[in-house]
Amino acid sequence: MKVYIRTYGCQMNERDSEAAAAMLSARGFALTNDEEDADILIFNTCSVREQAERKAIGKLGILQRLKRRRPDIYIGVMGCMAQRLGNRLLKKLPHVDFVIGTEQLHRLPEVIEAEIAARHPEVRTGSDHAVLTGLSSHLAEKSDSISAFIAIMRGCNRFCSYCIVPYVRGREKSRTIPDIVAEAESLVNAGIKEIMLLGQNVAAFGLDGKATPPDPEESPFGDLLRELDKLPGLLRIRFTSPHPAYFNMGLVKAIGECKKVCNSVHLPLQSGSDSILEIMNRRYTSAQYLDIVNNLKKLVQGITFSTDIIVGFPGETEDDFNATRGLMNEVGFDNAFIFKYSPREGTKAAEMEDSVPKEVKEERNQLLLADLSKRAGAHNRALVGETVEILVEGPSKRNSERWAGRTTTNKVVIFTPKPETSPGDLIKIKIGRATTMSLFQGVSLD
Ligand code: 5AD
Ligand code: SF4
Repeated sequence: MKVYIRTYGCQMNERDSEAAAAMLSARGFALTNDEEDADILIFNTCSVREQAERKAIGKLGILQRLKRRRPDIYIGVMGCMAQRLGNRLLKKLPHVDFVIGTEQLHRLPEVIEAEIAARHPEVRTGSDHAVLTGLSSHLAEKSDSISAFIAIMRGCNRFCSYCIVPYVRGREKSRTIPDIVAEAESLVNAGIKEIMLLGQNVAAFGLDGKATPPDPEESPFGDLLRELDKLPGLLRIRFTSPHPAYFNMGLVKAIGECKKVCNSVHLPLQSGSDSILEIMNRRYTSAQYLDIVNNLKKLVQGITFSTDIIVGFPGETEDDFNATRGLMNEVGFDNAFIFKYSPREGTKAAEMEDSVPKEVKEERNQLLLADLSKRAGAHNRALVGETVEILVEGPSKRNSERWAGRTTTNKVVIFTPKPETSPGDLIKIKIGRATTMSLFQGVSLD
């Protein structure tokens, strides 16, 4: 039987889809990228914004036609929307065969096999710590890639007032350091050079789900970075996302010490206004955020920052927005994901009036995007004439004769490979030209 998996949403979901594919492939299912060719179609969904849910529901609705044409196929929904809607999803979309919640991922093969045997709808949305055991499966075929995701924890205990994640992904559960190191080791043995550590709040890794940030020097996540830094053959370590309130000096120092940890940090800011941060229940101020950034800048030469921002949170005034804009300029983010606030049923913020008009949200979004592209363009142009080290990824998407690689600061570099260049090599490139998105090779270095 052939399985098709389509992913909506974040990198955590991408990783869950990969783990699902690996578990199913180990149980004898074949994988396909073609919907028409599949016997089992699984949709891994996202609930963070309404738009993400609307997209998945729209797609699932259209599949009713496919199911009428081919009643023998199975349609499954997993991920955050599956968790949030559970049985309600079956009522809305009766042609769906199974619904797997976020803490039931490890049971996916078993549910599919039961479904094939019995053919009656199955909904599993209970909480289960054993979900951590399914997280380490990777597809052997993926070993031609140089980079891999590792989910180090699941869930979130923060309850930021706008966010649905703690409701749909449950409480924080961390894996152990030896378990993660063993997974990284086997990935490196399969040819992986770079790992991206994933979690809703990686800075809370190993804190047993404490709702309050740790002592300034205590950082189990920093300890994990130190262990992974020792792994022979591994060249780079990235991670996403740490919550600023958990980003203490212990973690800053660990990043400073670990040579393989990349010089780019994704640190979700959400807002630069202290009063909005408070209503968001973020538990840090703009000054505390800047302290982390400045401490990192002191310890890590040339470090770059990216972030997540929400515009149009309930009550966000022009002044609040300008505080965000100002802080973004002060930090000098090279990249940012900017989201228009979307009320999520069941969260604290959804009880507040969604007071910022749609057009104002859009306008604020556009202003931040314009600032960003100006700033990224200037930062990239400053690198023209410099020689940078890149990890080679392979042929670029647009032109296979030109290859792409990435700097430690997470900038894409397009270059012409030498005959001996292979994906996974660390090479030096002299930058000749820059755009807001990419850097391009100039005179080649021999
Ligand atoms: N509306 C808009 N953006 C949101 N995010 C989380 N919840 C919402 C919401 N209700 C954004 C945050 C988070 C990112 C993953 O999604 O910026 O960091
Ligand atoms: Fe959502 Fe806040 Fe948890 Fe991030 S830290 S997943 S924004 S509740």
